[in-house]
Amino acid sequence: MTSNQILWWQRGVIYQIYPRSFKDGNADGIGDLQGMLAQLDYLTWLGVDAIWISPFYPSPMVDFGYDVSNYTDVDPVLGDLATFDELLQQAHQRNLNIIIDFVINHTSDQHPWFLASHTSRNAPKRDWYVWADAKPDGSPPNNWLSEFGGSAWAWDPATQQYYLHSFDKKQPDLNWRNPQVKAAMFDVVRFWLERSVDGFRIDAAHFIMKDPQLRDNPPNVGGKRVFYKPMGDYNSQLHLYDKGHPDVHNVYRELRQLLDSYSLEQLRIAIGEMHILNLEEWASYYGANLDEMHMPFNFGLVTADWQAHAVRQSVDAFEAILLPGAWPNYVLGNHDEPRIASRVGSAQARIAMMLLLTLRGTPTLYYGDEIGMHDADIPPERVQDPLAKSVPGVGRDPERTPMQWDSSPNAGFCPPTVEPWLPIPADYKQLNVAVERDNPHSMLSLTRALLDIRRTTPALSTGSYYPIENVPNACFVYLRELAGQLCLIALNFSGDEQVLSLPEMGSGRIVISTYLDREEQVDLAAFHLRSNEGCIIELPSSEGV
Ligand code: NOJ
Ligand code: CA
Repeated sequence: MTSNQILWWQRGVIYQIYPRSFKDGNADGIGDLQGMLAQLDYLTWLGVDAIWISPFYPSPMVDFGYDVSNYTDVDPVLGDLATFDELLQQAHQRNLNIIIDFVINHTSDQHPWFLASHTSRNAPKRDWYVWADAKPDGSPPNNWLSEFGGSAWAWDPATQQYYLHSFDKKQPDLNWRNPQVKAAMFDVVRFWLERSVDGFRIDAAHFIMKDPQLRDNPPNVGGKRVFYKPMGDYNSQLHLYDKGHPDVHNVYRELRQLLDSYSLEQLRIAIGEMHILNLEEWASYYGANLDEMHMPFNFGLVTADWQAHAVRQSVDAFEAILLPGAWPNYVLGNHDEPRIASRVGSAQARIAMMLLLTLRGTPTLYYGDEIGMHDADIPPERVQDPLAKSVPGVGRDPERTPMQWDSSPNAGFCPPTVEPWLPIPADYKQLNVAVERDNPHSMLSLTRALLDIRRTTPALSTGSYYPIENVPNACFVYLRELAGQLCLIALNFSGDEQVLSLPEMGSGRIVISTYLDREEQVDLAAFHLRSNEGCIIELPSSEGV
């Protein structure tokens, strides 16, 4: 593939914004579209290419927007459609693309579709959701569990049936086998395509098709790892029947056709959120003919142990499973995961950023990671996340705290007199955009420099990937190559100095170190990496390797 055949979503870097937490534009302590609009220049200064905005639709906010009560409007707390249109227009003027969240599996229980479905067993929209009779003893139709704890079935006393909710009880699952549901949801997609959005991040994408016979999930005998993280009782069974039935692929093929039909002048993409441990099954969401998702999110770096060999193994496993032409992607975290700087520590967060921005594939950066934000301690009385209330230990508030813009009270997120919706970590006075912008050695300066180098170095943005053998255990070393341009990336995952001995590579020039303090010629026969240091080294050009 030559670099000019590569498309924006392959070459570019995506930046995820959690709208409640980015910037408060109207002084109520909650981030909003107006605030985002005011910070677009920051994003172009930083050097990202697209933003993915987590849900901003009208919602009772039981799951902070992942419970949608109207798919074609903006929640008044977060803004309005006119502001969204302006955001889109202003972003496009700056060559920033916009990807929005599409909550495909469930609505809010306050969505008019559910309210109508709920009225009686004969309601015209009854079959828009998954309703089933109780077992003779009155218990739920089967043993399926909600990710948010307890049975996935909720009893409706009025109509004497259960409805399915794979997440919170107030997030009933849609019945995607009903053609009317598909038609209505595809109309939602059209609504946003017509407004000119560049793509969709599809929430819980593999959940939409369940076993038509609603069979029980088998028990997880032996306590195998069945989910990517511990989730209490959810891990007690193998989730064979409650999601990912093979006919899910028909929906995504059709969705892709819809996106393609709008892509003649403006390319539109779909990125799926699917936590699937079996890599073949995960990769099947690209489509057998690359005709489904442009990319299923790859959470390999989120789940791998933070050790050089484990990270390399994950990268190599994903590289190996991809069909020819399937484009890789990586993330370090998001609004559901502990922040990278808290998971691996501030020193290794720099290695993580260099890794993310030098692997082959589209990186998605979570807001705040570019300044090294940490998870916040959330006092019990300020807990917001429903998951924290139902499954102890896995609450997601710590990684959703307000963006830290400056050292003023409330970190410049909202006025000092207003209480932000989540508390701000105590270290915000050191870790914020204003302070780090002026420090040539800060995490922000590193991230911005890496983004610039990635953008201007074709081998890094679109070249091939080769892992290098015979390096110290604590190091992950790889080459990126395009049309003779060669970059070696050497990452030290330890707090000890490491020496690489790669005499066959000759010498090269350090383009950047994670310490941002050296750009020099080095001999790779004996190359010293300091503790927690990563380097990008440009090698003399060759005609392929
Ligand atoms: C995945 C989202 O990322 C998460 O935040 C949400 O709670 C669930 N899907 C349910 O929509
Ligand atoms: Ca606000």
